[in-house]
Amino acid sequence: MYNIRKPYMKPDSRLAEIVRSNPSMLYVLEYFQADYMIREMTVSEFCGEHQIDVNLFVAISNIYNGFPIESKLNLDAACIPVVIQFLRNTHFYYRNEKYPEIQSLIDELRKVNSAAEIGILKKFFAEYYAEVDEHLTYEDRVAFPYFEALYRKFTGAAGADNLARFSANEYRDHHTDIEYKLDELKNLLIRYIPVGEDRTVRRKLLTALNDVESNLNAHSAIESHILMPLVIDVEKKLAR
Ligand SMILES: [Fe+2]
Repeated sequence: MYNIRKPYMKPDSRLAEIVRSNPSMLYVLEYFQADYMIREMTVSEFCGEHQIDVNLFVAISNIYNGFPIESKLNLDAACIPVVIQFLRNTHFYYRNEKYPEIQSLIDELRKVNSAAEIGILKKFFAEYYAEVDEHLTYEDRVAFPYFEALYRKFTGAAGADNLARFSANEYRDHHTDIEYKLDELKNLLIRYIPVGEDRTVRRKLLTALNDVESNLNAHSAIESHILMPLVIDVEKKLAR
């Protein structure tokens, strides 16, 4: 029987078993820039070898495994730069791999289906991508550098005196819901685009949209439930 249930990861889980059950874990390994030679290692052993905080690895992996985040995560402020690098790596994947793939599938769809609605889909995607790009650029150029500077100040590193006027709350306000528009895009494709000789391209496109959707959901959960609490905690400690 087709098994869609994902196992819950614990520090003593065998990592290979978790990856076999959920191939999305390959994204986690990639974004942590860890290699795939997992052998028989437990999660703790793997994290020890790659110098990754095991609690952080487990928390992020369980988001990708589809579990809601635990309220008390017990993470250290030292996780801040690691989470930021992880998120920067997700941005690279969206920009350089996933969205170009979706764009070329839409172009392919247009070649095999002459329905006028494909033009609407193309326009809708362009608008959606402009929003995504704005969001990623804002994080890369404004929010992440601020969090990194905040962390340097917290650790007493030199050159961190001039913190830009910014706060984690601004970041939270700015955080628009780009997932909603993606859902609309899928709806458009499923409900309103007439089917021609395009079933294969259409299936590939929907699969790519589903893939980016679950990846973006994980991205948002990491920001809201892991990065934000860590940054807010540091801001509070520095304000004392
Ligand atoms: Fe984000």
